[in-house]
Amino acid sequence: MERRRFFSSATGALAFFQMDSVARAQKAAGSVTGRPADLVARDEDYWARIQEAFTVDRTLINLNNGGVSPAPRIVMDTEIRYLQMQNMNPTYYMWRILDPGVETCRRRLAKTFGCDPEEIAITRNASEALEIVQFGLDLKAGDEVITTNQDYPRMISSWQQRERRDGIVLKQLKFPVPPPSLDFLAKLIEDAITPKTKVIHICQITNRTGQIFPVKKICRMGRERGIEVIIDGAHAFTQYPFTHADLDCDYYGTSLHKWLLAPIGTGMLYMRKSKIPKIWPMMGADESLANDIRKFEQIGTHPASQRNAIAEAINFHDSIGGERKAERFRYLRRRWSDQLRTLPGVKILNSDDPEQSCGIGFISVDGVDTAKLVGYLWSKYRVWTTSFNSPGEYSGLRITPNVYTTIEEIDTFVEAMRDIVKRGIPG
Ligand SMILES: Cc1ncc(COP(=O)(O)O)c(C=O)c1O
Repeated sequence: MERRRFFSSATGALAFFQMDSVARAQKAAGSVTGRPADLVARDEDYWARIQEAFTVDRTLINLNNGGVSPAPRIVMDTEIRYLQMQNMNPTYYMWRILDPGVETCRRRLAKTFGCDPEEIAITRNASEALEIVQFGLDLKAGDEVITTNQDYPRMISSWQQRERRDGIVLKQLKFPVPPPSLDFLAKLIEDAITPKTKVIHICQITNRTGQIFPVKKICRMGRERGIEVIIDGAHAFTQYPFTHADLDCDYYGTSLHKWLLAPIGTGMLYMRKSKIPKIWPMMGADESLANDIRKFEQIGTHPASQRNAIAEAINFHDSIGGERKAERFRYLRRRWSDQLRTLPGVKILNSDDPEQSCGIGFISVDGVDTAKLVGYLWSKYRVWTTSFNSPGEYSGLRITPNVYTTIEEIDTFVEAMRDIVKRGIPG
């Protein structure tokens, strides 16, 4: 009896919280309708309602959302509901009920990206999406692939594996941070092209200093020369508003568990329809699927719960709006970087140009060991960050808040850094 009462009151409380979070988000959206996004970016009453939609650990300050982000409570609850459903009788509920729901998520993702649903495959992450193209392209010994040394290490390792296996040649270009301009980056790539170049592989936003690349220009450059261009959009999709038309790319891979705030273990591959027949899937698929984007989803038994909850993550994203999100990210980045950039030895290495940067920031402090800095920020202030060290080029901390980050958390990071710059890290 007691047990039953406990469970019914726990379920009631959960329902209350769910309703409450949706109602809060709706009320928040209503309060800012029609106001410019750059003004809403500073409206803490609005963002407080967004912050309440998350169940994050507020005893630590998470400034490494770039690695992977927590999903809002509504997305987590949806994922858990589907997980429980699929476990009731997996072969029925997963294959008959939930898997067809993936088609809704495909359609919603296509609408957000601005393409045909038949050009979207849902993957487990950006790595899978990009490697499908990296390993699926026919290349022969001597063919050249151009990328940068600031592309994602796993994507570079995948090309290096093809070097060892197939004898292709990988060229990793270096560039200064921040670079002088977008044109500089386009020219860097153009100058590296040779008659043997078959692939260009670049990030839309790098995972280090958050540098945005001139993707459309580079895609056109490749198309004019018959070179395949692969865009790593792991950090870009839903961090700032754009659609496929702004990129005009043929291949695009992204994570959904970063800036879309979808369940952990979700990613997306876009492939232009005309390219689908020529790319081999990473896991074998029936010949009848040769022209079907779903040939890239033939990975055997896997949970439908994460994938189906993508629809709820898109709802949450839409309820804030891409423009408001991007302006908030820029506001948060400037809030900490403008307070720290004038301190002795401090360099802000992300670009400040809104065309070249959004939510990702990068700070370096002369003479300070970055690994020790990460450790000290954590042990003394419970500020969670990550560091990047490119010997002979740059080193520092990447700072990635998200929509649930509070101003108090940003200011605590600022105070901690001020203290460290003034007093150093105790030995
Ligand atoms: C630029 C970039 N590409 C690819 C990836 C791989 O993403 P995932 O872990 O979702 O496979 C990451 C992850 O941080 C990344 O930053």
